[in-house]
Amino acid sequence: MPNRWDDFASIRRVQIESGNDLTFSKVFLPYYVDLVKELRPESLIEVGCGTGHLSTNLSNHVNTSVAIEPSEGMYSVAEQVIEGSCVQLFRLRAEDYRSERTFDLIISHMVLQLVDNLELFIASVAQFMGNQSHFVFAIPHPCFYNEYKKFFAPSEYHYMKELTKSVSFAVTKDPNTKISGVPYSHRPLSRYFFVLKKYGFHIVDFEETFPKPEIQSLYGTDWTFPRYCVFHARIDKDSEKLKKAN
Ligand SMILES: C[S@@+](CC[C@H](N)C(=O)[O-])C[C@H]1O[C@@H](n2cnc3c(N)ncnc32)[C@H](O)[C@@H]1O
Repeated sequence: MPNRWDDFASIRRVQIESGNDLTFSKVFLPYYVDLVKELRPESLIEVGCGTGHLSTNLSNHVNTSVAIEPSEGMYSVAEQVIEGSCVQLFRLRAEDYRSERTFDLIISHMVLQLVDNLELFIASVAQFMGNQSHFVFAIPHPCFYNEYKKFFAPSEYHYMKELTKSVSFAVTKDPNTKISGVPYSHRPLSRYFFVLKKYGFHIVDFEETFPKPEIQSLYGTDWTFPRYCVFHARIDKDSEKLKKAN
């Protein structure tokens, strides 16, 4: 339900632009900038771009940049944020975006843990993939995130069980501003691997996000486990075609 993000777009904009969202500015923005420098994609699509800051930052490194975002509130902020960049923005869910072209790099940052239907979402992303494409997405680390945020009480939580809930959270540097009533789904890692495989993806990398001590110290407390993880997946379209033909 992307409309649940509408009311939080302005807050997210301030948190990102002020640098209060440390995870965005100190951990993931540098991570994705390094990624585009390494992969040198010609074309990029960001799926669930929120306020548009990531796409705008990465757009200098690519020729074609598309960003899709279904929440009306997020979309209107993103419209302002991308102004003057080459980002083409569409107010759509991944499942509703149709493109004639494929993209070299597909990024989806902190989205898959809250999509209504993981299978449909990943099946849609598969349509954006060509033979050389990379799909890179980050999510809260399913093994550790509940220990960190305590979204689910011990009585309801079981690592192997898929669970969805409306949650509230704040960022470390802006603890009094609550983002509430947004969806969060816990799924075991194997669920992500299973669905990716089902739609023809293979995982080429899997990273557990654990910043250097100097970045951790900005949070005021050390990280005791990786709070996030990043999947890198590809599709061999030729072998997919062969599989379908046989
Ligand atoms: C936690 S926010 C992350 C936004 C942005 N990527 C960021 O990191 O700041 C999740 C975003 O995913 C969007 N979203 C939810 N379902 C989606 C879908 N099916 N397709 C594309 N975006 C979706 C929401 O509207 C929301 O803006």
